Amino acid sequence: MALQAQHCLQLDNWLDSKWHGIALRDHFAKGEDGILYMDANSIGPMPINAPEKIQQFMDIGWRQMRRRGWTQLDWLKQPQTLGQDIAHLMGANKSVVRVADSTSINLYKLLSYGLGIQSPKRIIVIQRHVFPSNAYVAQGIEKSGQTQLRYIDDISELQNALAPQDVAVVALSHVDYRNSQRLNMEEINPMVHANGALSLWDLSHSVGAVRIDLEKTRSDMAVACGYKYLCGGPGAPSLMYVGSHLSNAHWPAICGWMGHSDTFAFDADYKKSSNMDQFLVGTPSVLANTSFSCATEIWRDVSVDQLNERHESLTQTLIQLLQEQCNEFELEISSPLVHAQRGGHVALRMDGAANMAQAMISKGVVLSARKPDSLRIGLHPLNTSHMDVWKVVSTLRDLLDTQEWRDPRFVASNI
Ligand SMILES: Cc1ncc(COP(=O)(O)O)c(C=O)c1O
Repeated sequence: MALQAQHCLQLDNWLDSKWHGIALRDHFAKGEDGILYMDANSIGPMPINAPEKIQQFMDIGWRQMRRRGWTQLDWLKQPQTLGQDIAHLMGANKSVVRVADSTSINLYKLLSYGLGIQSPKRIIVIQRHVFPSNAYVAQGIEKSGQTQLRYIDDISELQNALAPQDVAVVALSHVDYRNSQRLNMEEINPMVHANGALSLWDLSHSVGAVRIDLEKTRSDMAVACGYKYLCGGPGAPSLMYVGSHLSNAHWPAICGWMGHSDTFAFDADYKKSSNMDQFLVGTPSVLANTSFSCATEIWRDVSVDQLNERHESLTQTLIQLLQEQCNEFELEISSPLVHAQRGGHVALRMDGAANMAQAMISKGVVLSARKPDSLRIGLHPLNTSHMDVWKVVSTLRDLLDTQEWRDPRFVASNI
């Protein structure tokens, strides 16, 4: 049966269901009039109460409370409480998730921690086409002499890379940021462990979009961006997870006062916290955490089953519509067609993808392109409607049909 606008409308009832007395769709602020946002893989939508909560923080927290905020408000607890509110989205125990720093920095901390645990093993296996910052972090550790990197071009090469039994850590992107291919943790973790290595997952393109089972799949460590599907706000701090079996296995890579077992003892010597706090370093970013807390208040009550089911429905609808409406054009769905093998976004391959992204933006659909030929549509399970999906596909089809996207005014920017 051809999927048409009417059918898409019927699929959207969930967004009208009430959460805390308000329809789900109204928990997020509307964007600019007439603009559709398909960029949740970059920056998720803004919770509706964020401006008010930030204003309140400015007024009460900063202007009035000043230093008393550290003791009388929740500022020091936010790295824990934010982690607790979203741990279920990663299939993690609430006690082993913290929110702080950036993903690149957390990756450094956990790669180094893994190397410390596994010494004298010193090999890190990493994908060659991982998000560049992840490779840069690993290359920096290599330059400092602490590791040697072993690259894999494809996950099928992992077994061979592990075979010499000399690997300390395997750092993998759960989802490829380009084509959205999702790896199978359930199969990969046992392979990593059987060869004496630890797994470190980057969940940036899956958490808040699809089901993740860190504990069930016996994952060792993980990091993820807070500003994408999790809606923490631009530049929101990142998530980190260390399985409880590893929490006291070594010394943290960056020791700071927030990771000390008694921060305000002002000890001359570092004594590491025995829990996940040891991976905290310096003063928390209270403003950014306050913004993030508006989203975690929503996430707290989201079941991962509902999230996953809705994401599947949205992305399968998108794929079906693309197959129906855009089949005759030179455009290929480069993401896996099966939901369990796909992350948060759906990627298309076409020559001139960056120009098409600009053309789509000119028609009111915000999406992104990645070099050389990838167009990414990042749907948000709590915010995107099936009707939005229909509009995206019809806009794309019109641009392809009229060839308007080839107009020189759509200068490629790749952002
Ligand atoms: C998969 C992935 N990992 C890491 C990063 C880098 O995160 P950060 O800038 O917070 O260090 C990004 C940024 O978009 C990303 O997409």
